[in-house]
Amino acid sequence: MAKAQLSYNCRDCGAVYRRWQGKCDECGEWNSIEESKGGTTSGAPKGLSGKKGRRIDLVSLDTPLKEQPRLLTGIAELDRALGGGMVAGSAVLIGGDPGIGKSTLLLQAMGQLALKGQDCVYISGEEATAQVQMRANRLGLSGAPLKLGCETSLRDILTTLDEGTPPKVVVIDSIQTLFADHVESAPGTVSQVRVCAHELISFAKRKGTVVLLVGHVTKDGQIAGPRVLEHMVDTVLYFEGDRGHQFRILRAVKNRFGGTDEIGVFEMTGMGLNEVTNPSALFLADHNSREPGNCVFAGIEGSRPVLVEIQALVARSSAANPRRAVVGWDSGRLAMVLAVLDARAGLGLAGCDVYLNVAGGLKISEPAADLAVAAALISSLSQVPLPDETVVFGEISLSGDIRPVSQSEGRLKESAKLGFANAMMPKAKKAGPKAIRQQTINHVNDLVTHFYPDGGLG
Ligand code: TYD
Ligand code: MG
Repeated sequence: MAKAQLSYNCRDCGAVYRRWQGKCDECGEWNSIEESKGGTTSGAPKGLSGKKGRRIDLVSLDTPLKEQPRLLTGIAELDRALGGGMVAGSAVLIGGDPGIGKSTLLLQAMGQLALKGQDCVYISGEEATAQVQMRANRLGLSGAPLKLGCETSLRDILTTLDEGTPPKVVVIDSIQTLFADHVESAPGTVSQVRVCAHELISFAKRKGTVVLLVGHVTKDGQIAGPRVLEHMVDTVLYFEGDRGHQFRILRAVKNRFGGTDEIGVFEMTGMGLNEVTNPSALFLADHNSREPGNCVFAGIEGSRPVLVEIQALVARSSAANPRRAVVGWDSGRLAMVLAVLDARAGLGLAGCDVYLNVAGGLKISEPAADLAVAAALISSLSQVPLPDETVVFGEISLSGDIRPVSQSEGRLKESAKLGFANAMMPKAKKAGPKAIRQQTINHVNDLVTHFYPDGGLG
């Protein structure tokens, strides 16, 4: 009998090796390679010759489409991140740091659904029934007819779910705790996670049940286990936020049934997560526009305008390598903005310590924040505050020119709604709302002139 071919997988990135080694060549992680007996990736594929397959029905693209019914959780921010509710038979992965509130969010959503008469099952592999019940009591869900199960055996879970009419929604908290007894590695390893997810996703497709999987993240913020997990599911949501802040942001990074980059905003309170329907008002709650270094950025998250405060602190440094610290924005992007301000406007920021913070714990990834960051930096350097009630947005190119950004109308409307009277922005194609004065900035030098009207640089 042929000996089963052993293979080795990297726990972090899922790379496959024929031999064990100390370091993964793909992701550079040490000690992450372990034996895999799942046998899904090892060995050459068997030849297809001989046995004939079943003929599949091909469908023409113009066949009338059946509208997928959506199941609304009743938590509007969650439904929004899901692209307008859950689709029957879909698999959703929710990742996030420990303690960020994944279990709380899903328990609240399932409780709401159960109260509306939907058949929902919550399987926890991490907490005991009493613990989940206690939390449900705290969330005011003690009367919800939600079915709880505390189990880690995949076989037992599937047997239970397969009995009778399948539930509408199943939550698995978390996929890393599940254990498939036909795979010989420990729970949480690549082969286990892959097999368990595969089985649960097939169950979802077979029965039309929505399966919500909780996934842990590694120290660099990716969902632990193989990257394939993200490819296997239909929707990937990340629940993020600062532990020090009460805001939590649910962000879609993949969605086969809707747009990505849509966010849901929540606030963690003693009574669980509350929806935040007007995030701008909350992010700007204690905004102080008279402080040099503060600047309000009119951003877009998904389809929604969100105003946030960007704070910068610039201080002359005597160190050979001045400090650069960024919270909530990309440090590479900050380096670029600093370089452009030095090269095109001669600000001399190279010799300064620079600290940049996005208030409220929001993470911004839009290039449109460039101009707001630049304004905050120059304001801190010059110790001149921005004009009152001003928002800023625009992308900075390497030449120092300010490039137009998408959805300026939406940004202006939201700013006007929140009482802002001026906007520093690139040249807009269309006239925005009348309530807000648009001040065109074509080059970083135009911005610098604002803070140094006499041309004298500090
Ligand atoms: P949890 O949902 O257990 O996080 P995860 O499943 O992502 O690990 O959230 C736990 C944290 O949330 C914990 O630190 C306490 C806090 N929390 C509240 O502040 N209020 C509440 O009502 C609940 C249930 C939790
Ligand atoms: Mg949890």
